[in-house]
Amino acid sequence: MATPIELHRFETPDEAAEAAAVRIAAAATDAVTARGRFIWALSGGNTPRLTYKRLAENDMRGRIPWRDTFVLWTDERCVPPDDAGSNYGMARELLLDHVPLPADNIIRVRGERCPLAEDEHYEQAIHRLLGETGRIDLTLLGVGNDGHTASLFPGGATLAERHRWVLPATGPDPYPHRITLTLPLINASRTVIVLAIGAEKRAIVEHVAGKREVPGAAWPILAVRPVDGPPVWLVDSAAFQ
Ligand code: 6PG
Repeated sequence: MATPIELHRFETPDEAAEAAAVRIAAAATDAVTARGRFIWALSGGNTPRLTYKRLAENDMRGRIPWRDTFVLWTDERCVPPDDAGSNYGMARELLLDHVPLPADNIIRVRGERCPLAEDEHYEQAIHRLLGETGRIDLTLLGVGNDGHTASLFPGGATLAERHRWVLPATGPDPYPHRITLTLPLINASRTVIVLAIGAEKRAIVEHVAGKREVPGAAWPILAVRPVDGPPVWLVDSAAFQ
């Protein structure tokens, strides 16, 4: 059975990225107005690159209250920040280096130290930010061709976690060692946006949208069911026809 989602389809990847940027800016303003700060979990991979670039552009940069914004990551590969595979490094290069976000507002996995006990270190940092029962305002997710999201991979033990907010995870080469947020924290987010761009995501997008059933689908993305309402999927025309 399809998971309830809110789907918005755009012709091009740029238009989907624009929509994501506008929604992130709106969520930031709303969160700061309501609670004095905006807590945003960024994803990695290729898909969010256009969105991060867009948010760094002059006309968009000023729409986010950066001084009251806190960023963390949905997952990280265990590589140093200057490695091409670093999710933190990618966001820094495309977005964070270009906006007035205070350095103290960046809560990152130290990819140069993980796995070791970095899951615990990162989880403690998130607890300090959110409190014991706190909530992320906006989690931006991608989805892999195998249906994984964050670093929650099909069949992974991390999927069953009910208490911990952060766990070490195993992924495919070239980044087998990772750290990921877990479903309890992701699903407690006030808003979840899933960005899906490109034809290789089509089977997954069309399945979750209820357009065509993929028999036996057991994708981690299907377990993303935020407590406050359905995840918002922003997709391009290649991912949903
Ligand atoms: C990661 C990501 C991951 C990503 C998907 C999609 O670090 O690998 O956070 O969950 O969102 O793998 O990746 P693409 O956007 O590159 O397709």
